[in-house]
Amino acid sequence: MVKIVIAGITGCLGSAFIGLADTLALAREAIVHATGEAPPFDLLTASSNGARITDGFGRSYAVDASIEEIACCDAVLAPGLQVGEGGLPTSLTNLSSIASWIRRQHSRGALVGAAGAGAFILGEGGLLDGRRCTTNWRSVEELKRRYPRADPARGAPLIEDRRVVTTAAPLSWVDLALHCIQSLCGETAARIAADATAFDGGSGQDAAYVPTGYLAGANPFLIEAERIVRQAGERALSATDLAHALSTSERTLHRRLKEASGESPKSFIDRVRVETARTLLETSEKSVKELAGDAGFTDEASFRRIFRRYAGVAPGAYRVLARARSHPKGHVFAIRKSAELIPEILTRILDSCVNGVTLADPDQEDAPIVYANREFERITGYSQEDIIGHNCRFLQGNDRDQEGRARAREAVSKREHVEVTLRNYRKDGALFYNKLNITPLYDTQGQLLYLLGVQYDVTAQARAEAEIFTLKARLAALAENKP
Ligand SMILES: Cc1cc2nc3c(=O)[nH]c(=O)nc-3n(C[C@H](O)[C@H](O)[C@H](O)COP(=O)(O)O)c2cc1C
Repeated sequence: MVKIVIAGITGCLGSAFIGLADTLALAREAIVHATGEAPPFDLLTASSNGARITDGFGRSYAVDASIEEIACCDAVLAPGLQVGEGGLPTSLTNLSSIASWIRRQHSRGALVGAAGAGAFILGEGGLLDGRRCTTNWRSVEELKRRYPRADPARGAPLIEDRRVVTTAAPLSWVDLALHCIQSLCGETAARIAADATAFDGGSGQDAAYVPTGYLAGANPFLIEAERIVRQAGERALSATDLAHALSTSERTLHRRLKEASGESPKSFIDRVRVETARTLLETSEKSVKELAGDAGFTDEASFRRIFRRYAGVAPGAYRVLARARSHPKGHVFAIRKSAELIPEILTRILDSCVNGVTLADPDQEDAPIVYANREFERITGYSQEDIIGHNCRFLQGNDRDQEGRARAREAVSKREHVEVTLRNYRKDGALFYNKLNITPLYDTQGQLLYLLGVQYDVTAQARAEAEIFTLKARLAALAENKP
């Protein structure tokens, strides 16, 4: 049975600890009632050594178990933490044992999540390194300072990045609990749970919690400047306009921004707008053109250029990467913990393959690649950023007149297996012969999930065959010319 553990942590918000337990218990009851089936998950609160915990206001709570007794589980959820001046949680000491236990669970395949400033617990366990995440507004700057490799988003209420879920507002544990149910038990269970816990799904996704009073304490000038840029929305905003809106001169604006963030007014405006666009790409279905406008870019081409400069990838590829991180279909690689399949190990196996392995998502326009292993990068010379989000045909360059391509195209459209050898070109332009196998992957209900591509570099073999062919032709010619 699926096991969800709520981590009891001294210094947490008591409401979040009890709230997570209540929300999940209510949801479980409602799911049993609505479906008539057995409870979909087991629920447990646990702390280091099973000791009672004390919340940030000094109230004490008992827990069900000790984390040391729990070898593995399917999800670990951490409550928000009480934060002090500046947004730093007041109790970051003594977190190491629970943080490393959570990390271990994650590496065994568990989904892990934290509400609000609970993100710091994940940070202590190294789980935010290289991950997109969110936390409450008060704590974003501290989070960035303490975990420089984390990539926190402002204005995103919930983010999942490779089985690490973070939510923004201090009371967002309801969202966290429901997201966990959706990931582990599916859409229907999540809908029943949402109804039972009186959750207003719409508003939760639309608004981020922005306590401006706290923000003003951090760096009022920078925060006010950021607010003006965000609120300008579609309106064009120059450095002069920004200085004017801040009731200051352009020169002072320049100086104060340089001091505060090291940026010129122009790059500050661009960066804030790119941040807005990133969040829209992650959380909305808007087209690139539409969201570029919403984020304040007047023309799409300059948006694409500026976005690429800041984010390192094109907007479409960024969206694909963000979806691949949080899309429920990611569970092909994030199949829940168990003896059978452990995601990290699976990835390692795929990375040690001697052939390229790719997955294309047929539900997205033009079936872009959403996964490529290390060997594929080696064979092609392209990096993940070049590959993810693009249809694999880019490897053909202008050499499109190939019989194998037509066969691949037909097989993909008919969802059939195919093996073809194609002339492909590495990033440095060198030709290689790619023996490609495409296989559709279906789920247990027969629904197409992904197209699996396996690539072998058969250049040496193809060259040897070409040489044999030439030699045979020469021999034949010689034989004909014999007197
Ligand atoms: C999972 C997968 C992997 C693929 N890998 C390659 C590849 O490595 N090289 C290549 O030239 N085409 C590859 N293709 C084929 C192209 O994506 C495309 O299907 C083919 O070029 C035919 O379509 P087109 O005529 O629209 O280009 C792959 C397709 C899929 C579904």
